[in-house]
Amino acid sequence: MTESNLFNSIQSYGWVSIAIHWLSFLMAAFIFGIGLYMVELTYYDTLYNVLPEWHKAVGLMLGVLTLIRLLWVAFSVTPAFEGESGLQAVLARLAHLLLYCFIIVLTFSGYIIVTADGSDLQLFGQAWLGALFELSSDQAEWAGRAHRWIAYGFAALVVLHATAALYHHFFHHDNTLKRMLFPQSIENGD
Ligand code: HEM
Ligand code: HEM
Repeated sequence: MTESNLFNSIQSYGWVSIAIHWLSFLMAAFIFGIGLYMVELTYYDTLYNVLPEWHKAVGLMLGVLTLIRLLWVAFSVTPAFEGESGLQAVLARLAHLLLYCFIIVLTFSGYIIVTADGSDLQLFGQAWLGALFELSSDQAEWAGRAHRWIAYGFAALVVLHATAALYHHFFHHDNTLKRMLFPQSIENGD
C-alpha cells in the first residue's frame, strides 16, 4: 500500500474509500439482519434484551461513520464513471446519494423510536443521549412504521446497486467493481 493509493484518483477509489465502503456494507447487513430477527423475539427468548442493544449500537456507529464518509467524499476526487451513457452515470450518482440519505434517516428515525416517551437513548444500560424531539404521543408507533419501511426501501436500493455493480463486472467487463475492491492504476495496466 503506497501513500498515493490511500486516496481516490480520477480512475479509481483509494483504500480509505474502499475500506469505508465495505465496512459500511458489513455493518448495514448486520444491523438489517438483526433488526428483522429481533422484532420476532418474545420476552422469553434469551436474545430478547441483547439484540436491540447491538442493533442500536452498530446502527449509531454506521450513522456516525456515514457522516465522516460524507466529509471524506466532499474532500475527495470522485472517479469518473465507467461506461457509455450519461444517464447511467446520473442514475448511479443519484443512487449513491440516496444510499447516504437512507442511512442518515434510518439512524435518526431509530433515535426517534427509542426516545419516544422522553427516555434517554440507552446502550447496554448506559445513557448516551437525551430525548431531543418529543413530537407526539404516538411517536414510537409512527416512527417504528417509518423506520421499517425505510429499512426495506434501503435494502431494495442496495440490491439494485449491487446488481448494477455485478452487471458492469460480468457483462461490460469494466473496472467498476474491481476499483471498489483494489485501487487500480494506469501503471498496472487496469
Ligand atoms: C442505520 C441503519 C439501520 C437499519 C438498516 C435498521 C433496520 C431495521 C429493521 C430492518 C428493523 C425491523 C423492522 C420490522 O420488520 O419491524 C428495525 C427495527 C428497529 N430499529 Fe433499526 N435500523 C437501523 C438503525 C437503527 C438505530 C440507530 C436505532 C436506534 C437508535 C434503531 C432502532 C430500532 C428499533 C427500536 C426497532 C424496533 C422497531 C419497532 O418494533 O417498532 N435502528 N431496524
Ligand atoms: C449497505 C450496502 C451498500 C452501500 C450503503 C453502498 C454505498 C455506496 C456508495 C455511497 C458508493 C459511492 C462511492 C462511495 O462514496 O464510497 C458506492 C460505490 C460502489 N459500490 Fe456500493 N454500497 C453498498 C453495497 C455494495 C455491494 C454489495 C456492492 C457489490 C456487489 C457494491 C459495489 C459498489 C461499486 C462497484 C461502487 C463503485 C461505483 C462507481 O464506480 O461508480 N456496493 N456504494
